[in-house]
Amino acid sequence: MTLIKEPDYGTPGRVSERTVTLEIDGIAVSVPEGTSVMRAAAEMGFQIPKLCATDSVEPFGSCRLCLVEIEGRRGTPASCTTPAENGMKVKTQTPKLAKLRRNVMELYISDHPLDCLTCAANGDCELQDMAGAVGLREVRYGYEGDNHLDAVKDESNPYFTFDPSKCIVCSRCVRACEEVQGTFALTIDGRGFASHVAASQDEDFLASECVSCGACVQACPTATLMEKSVIEAGQPEHSVVTTCAYCGVGCSFKAEMRGTEVVRMMPYKDGGANHGHSCVKGRFAWGYATHKDRITKPMIRSKITDPWQEVSWEQAISHAASEFKRIQAKFGRGSVGGITSSRCTNEETYLVQKLVRAAFGNNNVDTCARVCHSPTGYGLGTTLGTSAGTQTFDSVMEADVILVMGANPTDAHPVFGSRMKKRIREGARLIVIDPRRIDLVNDAHVKADYHLALRPGTNVAIINALAHVIATEGLINEAYVKERCEPADFELWRNFVSEERNSPEATEHLTGVPAADVRAAARLYATGGNAAIYYGLGVTEHSQGSTTVIGIANLAMATGNIGRMGVGVNPLRGQNNVQGSCDMGSFPHEFSGYRHVSNDAVRESFESLWGVKLESEPGLRIPNMLDAAIDGSFKGIYIQGEDIAQSDPDIKHVTGGLEAMECVVVQDLFLNETANFAHVFLPGTTFLEKDGTFTNAERRINLVRKATPPVPGYADWEVTMLLSNALGYKMDYKHPSEIMDEIAAMTPTFKGVSFRKIEEQGSVQWPCNDAAPDGTPIMHIGKFVRGKGRFVLTEYVPTDEKSTAKFPLLLTTGRILSQYNVGAQTRRTGNIAWHDEDVLEIHPHDAEQRGIHDGDIVSVMSRAGETALAALISDRMQPGVVYTTFHHFGSGVNVVTTDFSDWATNCPEYKVTAVEVRPTNRPSEWQLKYAKLRDDTRQIAGKTAAE
Ligand code: SF4
Ligand code: SF4
Ligand code: SF4
Ligand code: FES
Repeated sequence: MTLIKEPDYGTPGRVSERTVTLEIDGIAVSVPEGTSVMRAAAEMGFQIPKLCATDSVEPFGSCRLCLVEIEGRRGTPASCTTPAENGMKVKTQTPKLAKLRRNVMELYISDHPLDCLTCAANGDCELQDMAGAVGLREVRYGYEGDNHLDAVKDESNPYFTFDPSKCIVCSRCVRACEEVQGTFALTIDGRGFASHVAASQDEDFLASECVSCGACVQACPTATLMEKSVIEAGQPEHSVVTTCAYCGVGCSFKAEMRGTEVVRMMPYKDGGANHGHSCVKGRFAWGYATHKDRITKPMIRSKITDPWQEVSWEQAISHAASEFKRIQAKFGRGSVGGITSSRCTNEETYLVQKLVRAAFGNNNVDTCARVCHSPTGYGLGTTLGTSAGTQTFDSVMEADVILVMGANPTDAHPVFGSRMKKRIREGARLIVIDPRRIDLVNDAHVKADYHLALRPGTNVAIINALAHVIATEGLINEAYVKERCEPADFELWRNFVSEERNSPEATEHLTGVPAADVRAAARLYATGGNAAIYYGLGVTEHSQGSTTVIGIANLAMATGNIGRMGVGVNPLRGQNNVQGSCDMGSFPHEFSGYRHVSNDAVRESFESLWGVKLESEPGLRIPNMLDAAIDGSFKGIYIQGEDIAQSDPDIKHVTGGLEAMECVVVQDLFLNETANFAHVFLPGTTFLEKDGTFTNAERRINLVRKATPPVPGYADWEVTMLLSNALGYKMDYKHPSEIMDEIAAMTPTFKGVSFRKIEEQGSVQWPCNDAAPDGTPIMHIGKFVRGKGRFVLTEYVPTDEKSTAKFPLLLTTGRILSQYNVGAQTRRTGNIAWHDEDVLEIHPHDAEQRGIHDGDIVSVMSRAGETALAALISDRMQPGVVYTTFHHFGSGVNVVTTDFSDWATNCPEYKVTAVEVRPTNRPSEWQLKYAKLRDDTRQIAGKTAAE
């Protein structure tokens, strides 16, 4: 393995239909119009010396190292800021240029510590490289005069240092923060000799607006901005390209290593989803992989209050298999089931559902997507014919109007959020529909044209109001609808939304959004050019989640905004492989590729390949499994990579179900909260330790490549195989690529997918089959997957969860940038510096009424339960609405959320819970009880209690 070094062309590539031809050092080259001379030379393989230019940011022309001579032009222009022109004759190497460049370098070096041999960037420093490239042999100026060598290092950020003594003030970091990340945290402060890089108001990095994306560190040509991991471990010596295991953006990274130790994660420029950008999680938060809390040996116990006993893999697997067999013999075939994970690979997920269907012999398999995006599957499947986002992420760069609903991309999908902000800075208009003032509403250089701050639970009412305006003001794209949609359904829909009761004026009392704003937003969406909708869990996690997804698809069809670049309907998936886990047949009613288990032909094809008879009736969903456990008919479960005891709603119900089971098998990296109720623990592997694929929110299948050996000895897919074989159903895959071959053979939308194809192309967006051999970046071009698009009526039905005199506030939940989901990974990294506890955001008015001050501990009570956490007074919330995150198990927010769920899919209504909030000075009864239960159930024989 070698260290992959991606070329730096100096300035960004340009896209143009016109090319220009010029001569560089006597050789002709053609490039797209607008390309710099520097890049044109680089594309020929000629490296013009440079310091302030890099191809991730626009050129700036400050260092004067990249000078060239151009025939017929006076002076020596900077090649980074000079566009290539037809007929230009450029010289990059002349004695005059060499002298000028040496002089420039000499000045830089004269104010730079000469500690190259002991510098952490030694061997990976552009200043060092350029000194060599320009042939600098001596520096005539000493350090007698003023210099910056004593400037103080800022080590506040958990992951990188800022050493101003090494700064050459090239401003690459400033431009990266502005152009790539869009945070504008950095400036060059002062003038002349005093000019220096300043974070926010000259604060330290941790206290500044910096979100620790790492773009500046990546752009820095010196050791000024440097990863602490490299300072500690030394320069990496080989690398493996893989995929981030956090959110649904699916960023590609080079895992840069020394031996089997990861030294740094470097965003991969060729990554189709991220194009070389990253966020704090993927770039820096990988330390959990070697955290001391990791469980690396299999364990079993008879009762959950017994200490865990470490055993061999053989013992653990055979114990689990015999327990499942015993339970099935006693309570019937349907008494056990499994949960697949959206954090695991496609291949692992496919194997777990196969184990349930073929080895357990039932369809009791479900996935955590049940609690996040199952309404997307239903809503988009019903209207458009397929259960996935319609666009590629790059499509946003051609959007003129962006509608963000119930999503917070800058926190939950940061790399895509940065791209979206870039497009908005270029002029795209923005509509945000969210109860909370998310960053996008008013961020650095980004401002929403309309923020429709609706009351939680009124999504359908607002979608109908938007549709009403479009239908009644003549804004429907009649030609598109006529050509592409079912006419009768459309007419029914048009009549329905046109009814006065759906108007912005009639629904204002429900949504709380001024009718004029709704009207203006609807007009903008329908008439502003390419309009794209991006939505998240604020849409799906409601009792009418599926209805809202349908309503969104209706809006897009009615305005002709599906089937080309710049438009579409885009669910932003939370976890890395939510799309994949759904695609792989994790739901109890569907095989891979969303084919119903009652479909005889499909079922028979699986029966013939798998050699077993399969159930034709859908199995149990997660909530039904838990209900059945409490009723006594469901007794055993295999849970791979999910923590339902923290992530699922109404925890008392979840833990009650788990406690009632006789065999809970948890496969995970850590003793998660669900493991408190487990009888068998199978240690899991991180994404760094296995091969496979993840599918991101744009249906992009990316390779996950093994960088280090599996710490527990087996990768997760191998463990599932062992369990299946012990259950008596033979599985014999030698490599995950063979599992993907089976998926491709059995799933029409994956027919053309193979590891080799993904290797060749870098990634593949499904459908990938005979009709689309290279994959499908944009769906529904020309016609919808289901043929004609289908409008479906979206009657607003208020949720039963209403604020009352007893519970007058509405609680809604979300995520924060630095943490991920239940926090199992991010809590075990330096990200804890930004968010070490969940807090309750409460509007100043509501706080004042209750005598609550910032930082006070408050009790949050709902009809489901009570918890206590610290209050944060914030006017991001509207009065009457409170907000929190669920990244820390101790905050127990899901003790408070209820068992209400989406009518079509059972996706829980996390986003609306009626609560009361009161000051308190102690944890809730549940918190005290749970802390005791944790203590009692986390002992490992012969060891101190695990975290
Ligand atoms: S910190 Fe690095 S990128 Fe920023 S100005 Fe200094 S040398 Fe350039
Ligand atoms: S880490 Fe990212 S946000 Fe922070 S200063 Fe650098 S580019 Fe800006
Ligand atoms: S945006 Fe998502 S996929 Fe990309 S680095 Fe961040 S967490 Fe990973
Ligand atoms: S690289 Fe062109 S002026 Fe610095």
